[in-house]
Amino acid sequence: MSNGVMPTGAQRDVVLSTPRLTLTSWLVEDVAALHEVHSDPATMEFVRNGRPESRGEVERLIDQYMDEHAARGWTKWRLADVDDQLVGRAGFGGSSDSRGIAYLVRRSHWGLGLATEIAEALVGWHREHAVGVPLRALAAVGNDASSRVLEKVGFDEVGREEYDGTVCRVFVHPNMD
Ligand SMILES: CC(C)(COP(=O)(O)OP(=O)(O)OC[C@H]1O[C@@H](n2cnc3c(N)ncnc32)[C@H](O)[C@@H]1OP(=O)(O)O)[C@@H](O)C(=O)NCCC(=O)NCCS
Repeated sequence: MSNGVMPTGAQRDVVLSTPRLTLTSWLVEDVAALHEVHSDPATMEFVRNGRPESRGEVERLIDQYMDEHAARGWTKWRLADVDDQLVGRAGFGGSSDSRGIAYLVRRSHWGLGLATEIAEALVGWHREHAVGVPLRALAAVGNDASSRVLEKVGFDEVGREEYDGTVCRVFVHPNMD
């Protein structure tokens, strides 16, 4: 496929792999695992509605991710470890004109460098598969771990903007031409 997504022969497409992580498309059966992650208050403090989510909300979210992957070849994909266990999600939001990098890691796996590892790989994926499309990121003021990840993978902070009522730090990646 032109977007670099490789069909596996199994049901999932593999988008990319790093030494410790694999990014894949979703299956309906992933709802329980993602709901475990999205029902944790600390994990959700700075994302989506800022609160734990119900199983129904997670079902609708996975439907959305599956539709986006099928329709345009990019979304927020399933993030799995070397044993193919879900450890979060990562990918892109935004529009075709300006994509926003996004990542979320299961709380038991924080502090191991996983967000940095997948963010770095996503920057490379974007550079290869979305040539000329600006890449930015928003991190809520107070989400210092996320801002640190963005700095570590080369983003520059350019200002602040409000998103869904939350004041966010705005980052852009400088090397996307
Ligand atoms: C933010 C998040 C993705 C970080 O994941 P992670 O795998 O723990 O991140 P990493 O280990 O790769 O790197 C975290 C960095 O932030 C630093 N950090 C962690 N907590 C911090 C804090 N409270 N203040 C400042 N820096 C912090 C770490 O020390 C590390 O930097 P270092 O390598 O220079 O020491 C994770 O906490 C998460 O999923 N949070 C919930 C979802 C979320 O907020 N997603 C981002 C939305 S913008």
